[in-house]
Amino acid sequence: MNSFIDSANFFEGNNPEQIASEYGTPLYVYNEKILRDRMHRVSQVITKYPYTANYSVKANTNIHILKIALEEGINCDAMSVGEIEMLFKAGFPKERIFFIPNNVSEEEIIYALKKGVITSLDSLAQLELFGQCCCDLELADEKRLCAVRINPGVGAGHNEKVVTGGKKTKFGIAEEDISQIFEIADKYKITIAGINQHIGSGFMDPQPYLDAVTNFLRIAMQFKNLKFIDFGGGYGIPYHKLDDEKEYPMEDFKKRLEPLLDDFVSKYGSVPLFKSEPGRYCVAEGSVILGRVHATKQNAGNLYAGTDVGMNVLVRPSMYDSWHDVEVIRGGKVVSRDNLVEQTVVGNICESGDILAKDRKLPEIKRGDLACILDTGAYGWSMCSTYNSRPRPAEVLITKDGKVKLIRRRETIKDLMRLF
Ligand code: LLP
Repeated sequence: MNSFIDSANFFEGNNPEQIASEYGTPLYVYNEKILRDRMHRVSQVITKYPYTANYSVKANTNIHILKIALEEGINCDAMSVGEIEMLFKAGFPKERIFFIPNNVSEEEIIYALKKGVITSLDSLAQLELFGQCCCDLELADEKRLCAVRINPGVGAGHNEKVVTGGKKTKFGIAEEDISQIFEIADKYKITIAGINQHIGSGFMDPQPYLDAVTNFLRIAMQFKNLKFIDFGGGYGIPYHKLDDEKEYPMEDFKKRLEPLLDDFVSKYGSVPLFKSEPGRYCVAEGSVILGRVHATKQNAGNLYAGTDVGMNVLVRPSMYDSWHDVEVIRGGKVVSRDNLVEQTVVGNICESGDILAKDRKLPEIKRGDLACILDTGAYGWSMCSTYNSRPRPAEVLITKDGKVKLIRRRETIKDLMRLF
């Protein structure tokens, strides 16, 4: 593909140069149509049985994007009190939020219990703490509801740092400890309403997930009267789209998933609500970052394009060696990829690892160009930092009727000073 920006009409007829001039750079730009399209796709993963997609909001908690998820009818999972508060602010009712925390305090468990948000406990110790919290609050038996996270025993993901299943990860309760879940539940009169798992993040081959579903449904047979079974998220997106990488095979995946559910439902005796927890798939492709090129240079024969998109703005390349396609915009137009030159696109942070794209074949970049970094909607702004005391960027949304709307103002140095 020569240009994703052009083929998707990403800016919906708006001039990216004008957007960059008006809102400044670095700038996250979202496309509402793409966001809605991907959220709709995940809402259709299971159609034969009761199902909800839970958008995993750690990927992106901008309240305006959460409102789109609300309108698209999908539910959400939250990892912290902060994420739950964002969801309330966006208008989500407690019934549409699933709290899947890790190593949380008594206060956080009590917060969720008081708000009526169902929590998944990730270890036997946390389940025990949940039981104690229920006793402290003198909750009636019917309110002592929770889920438990089981470690699926296998994992998958785009980088070992994002694999969450298997013996070498901190997540979930091992299958061999399930009998202890029942002991703790009996002791505190807790009902285990659901079970959840998550194998990891950003896989393109559905097979490991389908294997994990098969395994999880086998494990589910040990639990009586489950109200829901949550298979986790992790569906990948084509980060190499300019090299024609194919999308995650959603339709094929759905076809292969259904018989596994048929088999389970025929044996289990009741039909639980099935859930999945996609984060990246919902939002990644719906955003780009516009960065300004402030300098170019040659160091020992290597060409560098120096932008204002530092690792504080997008940490994924330096944290996971992640690939993000880059398009070059000059005078408001995407520069054609007919003549490519090897260049390294870097940011403005004082670290040599502050690299966005290493030794990349790109149209020759000039000072004043815009570097347009693709697929940044997931784990982009949500992992921003103020490293080097750089305020975090603004975010704008290109609405479905083509308007440009500011959905988060740029942080200021005054904002940084406020904490002192
Ligand atoms: N459910 C649980 C319990 C999770 O831990 C995660 C992601 C998800 C769902 C959503 O996974 P997704 O569908 O987005 O792959 N920062 C990394 C990704 C870390 C994912 C953490 N957990 C990255 O930028 O690739």
